[in-house]
Amino acid sequence: MSELMSNSLFRFMSFLISIRDILVDLDKVVEEIGIKSGNVVLDYGCGPGSFSVPAAKIVGKSGKVYALDIHPLALKYTKKKAQKNELTNIEFILSDCDTGLNDESVDIVLFYDMLKNLLTPQKQLKELHRILKPEGILCVKDVRFKDEIPSMITENNFFKLKTKSKKQFLFVKK
Ligand SMILES: C[S@@+](CC[C@H](N)C(=O)[O-])C[C@H]1O[C@@H](n2cnc3c(N)ncnc32)[C@H](O)[C@@H]1O
Repeated sequence: MSELMSNSLFRFMSFLISIRDILVDLDKVVEEIGIKSGNVVLDYGCGPGSFSVPAAKIVGKSGKVYALDIHPLALKYTKKKAQKNELTNIEFILSDCDTGLNDESVDIVLFYDMLKNLLTPQKQLKELHRILKPEGILCVKDVRFKDEIPSMITENNFFKLKTKSKKQFLFVKK
């Protein structure tokens, strides 16, 4: 289980993420998943909200993004970004695993740069399996792990690999 990092460490991580966000086309990462207007998306471990915001723009008012993080500052930063972009379709969840969402209620889960925080992510993957719709997609990318991602995600038989796109691995429920 991951531990809550200090506020100063979270601020430093957010600073590093802001540099990454200059180098990475965040819209492209989200677009290549095929998110549609009206979709329900969970950004698990949203950090400062880099991907929650482009996802919320695509799903629009008929859809919803749940931005979940263990750290209160993550939700604060994401809220600020949402307000700056005049987005009202993001809801915030403070949690280290349980989402509180209904069974089979989510179309897409973003699970970006989480594996290095959760070296044993099986508890979280079980929860994501529960809330994803039967055809829902779990999207995973991680700076530390690349080739290891398929085996880490499929280890407990919750998910199978659907496809590998340019920037991430996409999994569906087994
Ligand atoms: C490296 S950041 C990635 C942020 C974001 N996904 C991105 O790619 O920009 C990892 C985030 O996961 C959060 N986190 C760590 N353990 C968690 C857990 N068990 N449940 C939810 N969030 C967690 C941290 O607070 C941090 O915001």
